[in-house]
Amino acid sequence: MQQARAWLERASRVTVLAGAGLSAESGIPTFRGTGGLWRQFRAEELATPQAFARDPKLVWEWYDWRRVRIAQAGPNPGHRALAELEKKIPAFALVTQNVDGLEEQAGCHSVIRLHGDIWILRCLACGRERRDRTAPLPVLPPACSCGGLERPGVVWFGEPLPNAAWSAAEDAAAGAEVMLVVGTSVVVYPAAGLVWNARQSGAKLIEINLEETALSPEADCSLRGKAGEILPRLLL
Ligand code: OAD
Repeated sequence: MQQARAWLERASRVTVLAGAGLSAESGIPTFRGTGGLWRQFRAEELATPQAFARDPKLVWEWYDWRRVRIAQAGPNPGHRALAELEKKIPAFALVTQNVDGLEEQAGCHSVIRLHGDIWILRCLACGRERRDRTAPLPVLPPACSCGGLERPGVVWFGEPLPNAAWSAAEDAAAGAEVMLVVGTSVVVYPAAGLVWNARQSGAKLIEINLEETALSPEADCSLRGKAGEILPRLLL
């Protein structure tokens, strides 16, 4: 912990790669592991373009349920510690795989969203995007003012990541002196690959996770525990 703190104190370029574990202490279920969403639901029935084409109402019911859970939640001490870190680091980026928006609610500004935003609705007919925080939504599936069917503004399995977000994330990984990898199982690519990009460019890798991951043996420092407890201590 002390060594990791020293690296962070000296660094002027820090990139964070965050996953569902960062929001777990806000009461939002993760995807894998105990209580994970993919233990209860099948990803291919809910988070693919094919699933949406087959049954948009079912897919929306699931996203609406998640929107309600997230609307009831707020940022936790982990999110807030990252917002504090951002203020101290000249070149800071928080690359997140989460779609809940709790990073911004905690006061983070330099957020790069790799997997989209659950509060955005995108029309399949005219392409218009709108932000709507109503939860639950009154009608499922929701419709655009043009009459077209709207989809959640998230990235599904089999879809490419948004171009601008991905190139910003690649730059942030390649330029980092320190990468903090928080609450991610590091198994979903291409996001997980950013860790290896950062390593190749010489970044120190600091992992914070409840459990051991594929990254743990490779990390320069792997801290075991809850993000909401470790981050505030690390960034004191
Ligand atoms: P996962 O659910 O795969 O992994 C969550 C990680 O967080 C696990 O390694 C847990 O051990 C750890 N964890 C849980 N609670 C924690 C806590 N309080 N503090 C620290 N760590 C904790 O979530 P992601 O890695 O984010 O993609 O999953 C990546 C992507 O897979 C998601 O963005 C989503 C999913 O399918 C899409 O929807 C495209």
